[in-house]
This record gives sequence, structure tokens and C-alpha cells, in this order.
Amino acid sequence: MKIAIDGPAASGKSTLGEALARQLNYLYFDTGVMYRAITLAAIQRQIDLHDEIALTALAQQATIEVTPPSVNDGRQYTVWLDGVDVTWLLREPRIDVNVSIPSTYPGVREEMVRQQRWIADKGNVVMVGRDIGTVVLPDADLKIYLDATVEERAMRRHQESLRRGEISDYLSVLSAMRQRDLLDSSRESSPLQPALDAVIIDSTGRTSASIIAEVNQIIINRRAYVGMAASDSADDGDKTS
Ligand code: DC
Repeated sequence: MKIAIDGPAASGKSTLGEALARQLNYLYFDTGVMYRAITLAAIQRQIDLHDEIALTALAQQATIEVTPPSVNDGRQYTVWLDGVDVTWLLREPRIDVNVSIPSTYPGVREEMVRQQRWIADKGNVVMVGRDIGTVVLPDADLKIYLDATVEERAMRRHQESLRRGEISDYLSVLSAMRQRDLLDSSRESSPLQPALDAVIIDSTGRTSASIIAEVNQIIINRRAYVGMAASDSADDGDKTS
């Protein structure tokens, strides 16, 4: 089974995705880290983020690996960029404010999507991002589009930063998030939008536990429906044989 979870920043996708993957014993893969890693690689190598050709070449050359946590410091996974642990560097504000730029380049996206499909082909997966249900896994068995107001999402990010002991200003986070929403949803190549067959869930004012419970119920209902359809077709086969 392939589960696609899409939605804007801080809508609760990673909490939901990780919980589902743990319960179902599926691979959890957060595709946002790949775009973040390319952005970091460009900054570290002093490549102009507006140089689409250089960014595309970088996406094709860089090796991004995501493994189970290598350190027990609250991380969901470890991200390796060319063999170096960059997990926390990917969460810095300089990445937040710049990541939407490389994400608009079709060549970068093509390479990321190719690698993401290769990962999903390995087996059961919960894949989280912006274009999973629409582009990466259009045949996913379940597509969830998670949303929340921009104010609530900014507050979540702001509080996360404070919990990590970082300095954070709510209004700056809100303004950066508005800007990122605009870039993510207005880009020409694979803009952020719900797939036509996605279940849309608004997480505003809700706990992650209630969202996880709702999606679990959807999975139970779908499995029951698929089971019924399978036994109906087996019955049809019995009748015709
Ligand atoms: O989920 P996130 O905040 O880590 O994503 C970082 C950026 O990467 C986001 O602003 C847009 C981009 N992204 C994307 O374009 N497609 C994806 N499947 C995942 C992320």
C-alpha cells in the first residue's frame, strides 16, 4: 500500500506520516528534505540559487540519503548529504526562506521525483510532500491533503523553534510562511494542490491524535471496502466457473 500525504508547511504532515508509518510498519519518507538538501548544498557551494542550470546539475550530482536516526536527539531520521549528517542544518531559517526557489525548477523536480519513485517502488510507504498524490505517486492507494490556517501553522513552527532553544519571532515566521505558501502554490511545475481523489482534512484547532485517529478510520474503511470488492469478484468467479 502507498499512502500519499500532501499539504502546506506545518500542516501536520510529518507527525501524521510518521505515526501512520510506525503503526503500519511502513517506510516513512519526507520528500521535503530532498529539496532542503539541494538548497543547502547550493548555499554551501556558493552556487547562485537563481541559476537553474547549475541547480539542476547539482540535483543530479548530489547524493542524498535518508536513514533511521543515527543520533537520539529527537530527530525522525538522519539526512546525509554527500555522506555528511545535515539533519538539523536543513531546519535553519536560511533554508526555510530559500527552499522554494530550487523547488520551482522542473529539472530539479524531475530528478527528485525519479529518486522518490525509486524509493516508493521498494514496498509499502507513507510519502509526505507537496506533489505526492498529484505527480510522484498518482496511483497511491490513499491520498490525504492536510491543511490548516497560515496563522496556526506559523504558530506551530514558532513554538517548535522555541522548544529547540532557538530565537524566534512569530510575525517573521508568519510572513516567511505566507511567502512560501505563495511560491509553493503558484509555481508552474507541480504546484501545491490537492489531488482530485485526495481526502482533504483541516487540522486547524485539532490535536494530532484526532487527525491520526481519523486517518486510521479511513484506512480501516478502505481496507474493508477493498476486502468486500475482492470477495465479490471471487464470488463472481465462482458463479461463472
Ligand atoms: O515540507 P517541507 O517544508 O520540508 O518542504 C520544503 C520545501 O520543499 C517546500 O517549500 C516546497 C518543497 N517541496 C516540494 O516542492 N515538493 C515536495 N514533494 C516536498 C517539498
